[in-house]
Amino acid sequence: MDQQGGDSRRITLHAPEDFAGMRRAGQLAAATLDMIAPHVRPGVTTGELDRLCHDYILAHGATPAPLGYRGYPKSICTSINHVVCHGIPGERVLAEGDVLNIDVTVILEGWHGDTSRMYVAGQPSTKARLLLDVTYESLMLGVAAVKPGATLGDIGHAIQRFVERHRFSVVRDFCGHGIGRRFHEPPNVLHFGRPGEGPVLKPGMFFTIEPMVNAGRPEVKILDDGWTAVTRDRSLSAQFEHMVGVTETGCEVFTYSPAGLHRPPYAA
Ligand code: MF3
Ligand code: CO
Ligand code: CO
Repeated sequence: MDQQGGDSRRITLHAPEDFAGMRRAGQLAAATLDMIAPHVRPGVTTGELDRLCHDYILAHGATPAPLGYRGYPKSICTSINHVVCHGIPGERVLAEGDVLNIDVTVILEGWHGDTSRMYVAGQPSTKARLLLDVTYESLMLGVAAVKPGATLGDIGHAIQRFVERHRFSVVRDFCGHGIGRRFHEPPNVLHFGRPGEGPVLKPGMFFTIEPMVNAGRPEVKILDDGWTAVTRDRSLSAQFEHMVGVTETGCEVFTYSPAGLHRPPYAA
């Protein structure tokens, strides 16, 4: 075992033909995030966003993985402002300037497609804008580190170095994860670390990279609903998530936006 995510021998190595299933699942999850973009406006409730995503996923022959997962009550996660992750959709009405993460996971033909992006209701503050940009860039630096022979520590280090250079902090309590026919499996993909540490990446590994970045301190707490994670200092938090497969030469990102809506503003 090692600190970075366990014994690398337990990480599933998928066959080349498995990439096609993950591509379809990832693209449906990303298309769901594209579909919801014009609905994210002041006045809408997070429950309405959940209903729209739920219906879209079913209409495309898939099911929402969160619904009923370990007792989770809804089909997506909606994490607003100081909510770090796992916010539960409900009666909350979006207000001008709210920033939120929407996290979608579908199960299509047995394969999981997991991706999330940040959205803004109206116009963000200058500070929120910077936090979203740094979080997105940190994810893409992590993705750029994925290739055979690199380690999970290389990914975490690339993310942490960039985030901390901007005087933001990386959340330690949640991580990316192996994925495929199961929602969450080894390895744990930490968003901090040291170069060369942790399991070595091999072709056929499928995992998510999903850094949560706080404007203030990294500590989080879980609310009484048992799910909603918030920053202890109530500072803003942001997250983007992609799902990748390691190839012979680098990686395939399964969850790029079909509509090119990579980060806000998404208005056409
Ligand atoms: N999609 C989240 C992830 O990136 C997990 C949500 S679990 C849920 O791993 F139960 F809250 F939906
Ligand atoms: Co995930
Ligand atoms: Co997710």
